[in-house]
Formats: sequence, structure tokens, C-alpha cells
Amino acid sequence: MGVTVLVGTQWGDEGKGKVTDLISGDFDVVCRYQGGANAGHTVIVGDQKFGLHQVPSGVMYPGVVPVIGNGCIVDPEILVGEMDTLEADGISCELLKISGNAHLVMPYHKDLDGANERRLGKNLIGTTRRGVGPCYADKATRIGLRVQDLLDEKVFREKLETALAEKNPILELVYGLPTYTVDEITERYRPFAKRLAPYIVESSRFLNDAIDAGQSILFEGAQATMLDIDHGTYPFVTSSNCTAGGAVTGSGVGPVAIDRVLGIAKAYLTRVGSGPFLTELPQGDEIGEKLCEVGHEYGVTTGRKRRCGWYDAVVVNYAARVNGLTDLAITKLDVLGCLDEIKICVAYEADGVRYTTVPEHQSVFYKAKPVYLTVPGWKCDISGCRTFFDLPREAKDYIDLIEQLAGVRVSIVAVGPEREQTIDRHWR
Ligand code: GDP
Ligand code: IMO
Ligand code: MG
Repeated sequence: MGVTVLVGTQWGDEGKGKVTDLISGDFDVVCRYQGGANAGHTVIVGDQKFGLHQVPSGVMYPGVVPVIGNGCIVDPEILVGEMDTLEADGISCELLKISGNAHLVMPYHKDLDGANERRLGKNLIGTTRRGVGPCYADKATRIGLRVQDLLDEKVFREKLETALAEKNPILELVYGLPTYTVDEITERYRPFAKRLAPYIVESSRFLNDAIDAGQSILFEGAQATMLDIDHGTYPFVTSSNCTAGGAVTGSGVGPVAIDRVLGIAKAYLTRVGSGPFLTELPQGDEIGEKLCEVGHEYGVTTGRKRRCGWYDAVVVNYAARVNGLTDLAITKLDVLGCLDEIKICVAYEADGVRYTTVPEHQSVFYKAKPVYLTVPGWKCDISGCRTFFDLPREAKDYIDLIEQLAGVRVSIVAVGPEREQTIDRHWR
């Protein structure tokens, strides 16, 4: 299968976990390249349901090596908890590899994430409060601690002292929050250091050796294109590069190694947290509520109700460009079976100008109005369909329309949350 990058094309929660799990068995290695415990990827295997935050979704297959790449941030407390839960459920984490260069989420990152949000008041980002922004900020200002620092307590303490010299005054004087001592955090992280030490590797070398040995790699993106710090709806974004380019910097594998880029798009649209969402249905709208209930649109990480709206082809067309998509997977098509008719946003209009890709200028984006095409629904349960030809004509037409508007072939169609509730059209 070569090297594939799997990316979210919208605002997250497109079903990346499900599709990663679906195709992971065809790969030797599955590597996360960005983000941290803000991710919430659902994987359902038989009657077991897992909400994964740190461990790559490929962990479900014995023999597939899950790797946490250097572009990720690691909350050791959450990672160890997740490993324990998986192991208790009979899923081995023995093969897991963690990049020594990945940054560590520290307790003060989580405090500062919450405090920043409170300071922003009504302009808050609506973060997952997992310390993501403050951790990536420390990486950029070069006072972050990395996974490899867990291996040398002397270095860990020295770096922590430098960080706390900046963090404590901010916690105390700016936000009126409790401060930390080096001893306190070192004690708290020592058991994690012991537990995680056997898994820490030089991941770029591991991944490139795998490629040289003819092995295949799946890069599992978290968050999504419109939450990418460069290409998303800044500042209402996460703090990493979720787009396909992030797989290169977040893993230490060169760009020419990548064979395919698979974008995941939900058949309608959701967003959790603040920020623009042009095709959003108003709060309390009957169709929006229906999509939320039938699609179980509640956050895996925070439990928040997701904002729901119509499929936005402009966003996916943009995602095709910034990621260089070769394939698309459309998920949750079954959910639309509850509607008489379906709207699809085919363009935006602002100041008399028509846009078929996301306009770069935020002021244009904010005032743009979606242009909808209304198509008939299929009004039936399609969760049992296993080939494209099994789908009702209206559902096939909907997929064909998505394909045409994105300019990318739809290779996978998901018709239910379970592994086998999937149509492989062109993937394998
Ligand atoms: P991720 O963050 O992109 O991995 O997505 P989440 O796991 O946060 O949210 C996707 C949700 O939709 C999960 O509850 C999945 O079990 C579910 N799901 C995924 N694909 C399908 C599908 O084709 N149909 C239905 N009905 N549910 C799906
Ligand atoms: P998966 O991988 C949906 C959103 C948050 C917030 C913004 C910044 O499950 O698709 P952060 O905590 O990253 O600083 O929050 O990004 N967000 C997500 N939304 N799915 C996710 O992950 C998300 N991870 C972060 O809601 O708006
Ligand atoms: Mg999610």
C-alpha cells in the first residue's frame, strides 16, 4: 500500500478513526504526526467501542506498529491511561513507538489553556482544554520539554526550572492560579517516565528504515484542514499543521515517499468550538437537531454537542487543493437517510463575487453566503449496502455530485460506524 496520508477535510470528527481502523490492516505502520489528546477518534470493533486520544487507531490490529511522531504532543497521564484501558480490553500496546522529539504536555499547559479561554470571554476559541495551544507555543518559543527529557531526570529538572521561571509568574500574577515546583512535577512525571521509557524511539529513523525495507505506512491525521493553524479559520483553529504537509514535518519522512492522500469528509458538516461555519443550521433547527441525534454528534473528547449543517463543497474543494488529495472517503452517508431533501453548498457569494474555493481573506469568508443546490433524499436505511450499486439512485447521485465538486474521486463510502459498514469503491 506504500505511504498514505489520511486527513480530515472539514472541521474534525469526520470519522478519521473509523476509516483509519478500516484500512490499517493493510499497512505495516500507522503513525500520528500532529496534535495531542485534543483528538477523539472513535473505533468500533465488534461490540467494543474505543475513543482514542493519543494512541494511533492502527493499534487495533496485532502486528501493525503504532507510532506517535515528533509532530505530536504527548500528555503522559492521558497516554498511560489509554494504554492501560486498551490493554485491559485485550488490545496490546506492546509495539507502540513514541518519538523522543515529541513535546510533553505539562500540567501548567492545561491550566493556561483554561485561563486563556476565560480571559477571551465571549471570543473564546472553545478549545478542548487539553493544553494544546500553550504546549505548541512553548515548542515554538523553545522552552518546551520533550519526551526524551523523561529519560534523564537531571535534564528534565533543568528544563522544567527554566519553564517554571516563566510560567509561575504568569499563573500567579496574570491569572491568580496556583504555581508549581520542580519537585512536584518531577515526582508526578517519574512514574510516567518509567512506564513510557521502553517505547521511546528515534521515530524518523524507524519510519525511514521501514520504508527502505519495503513496508507501508499510514499517517493518521487528527483535527482537520479547516482547523490547521496555517490553512484553517485562524484564530479558530488548533495549534498544529493537520494538513498533509504536517505528515512530513511531523514524522521526518520526506515528501516524495507519499503515494496517496486520502481526505475524509462527512456527508454533512459539523464543527465543535467557536468560529465561522457558513452552512450551519440555526440552533434548534429541526433538521440540525435530527442530524445531531441520528448522527450522535457529541464530542468524543469533551462531550460537547457539535454544531451541525449542510455539506460544504467549497470547503472540501479547498481541502483537495491544500492537501493534494488523491482520494476521498465520504462518511455517515446513512445519517442523511432521515431527510426528505438534502442541501449541498456548491459556492459562496460575497459582494457579487462567486467563490468555489475558500476565499483567503477572512472578511470575505465571514460575509459570504452559501449558494445551495437542493437534491432529493433517499429516505431509507442504507447501512446494509456493501457495494456502490446497492445504494439507491439518489445516494449514488449525491456521491457523484460530491466527487464532481471536489475534483477528487470518492474511493470509500461509509454507511455506518462499524468496520464492515463500508463501501470500497476504488480504494483497494
Ligand atoms: P474522528 O475524530 O474523525 O475520528 O471522528 P469521531 O470519532 O470524533 O466522530 C465520528 C463519529 O461518527 C463516531 O461516533 C463514529 O463511530 C461515527 N461514524 C463514523 N463513520 C460513520 C458512518 O459512516 N455512519 C455513522 N452512522 N456513524 C459513523
Ligand atoms: P478530531 O481529531 C473537532 C477544535 C476545538 C477548538 C479548536 C482548538 O477528533 O477530529 P484545541 O484544544 O486543539 O486547542 O482546540 O479545535 N478541535 C477539534 N474539533 N475534532 C477534533 O479532533 C478537535 N481537536 C480540536 O473544539 O474549536
Ligand atoms: Mg473526533
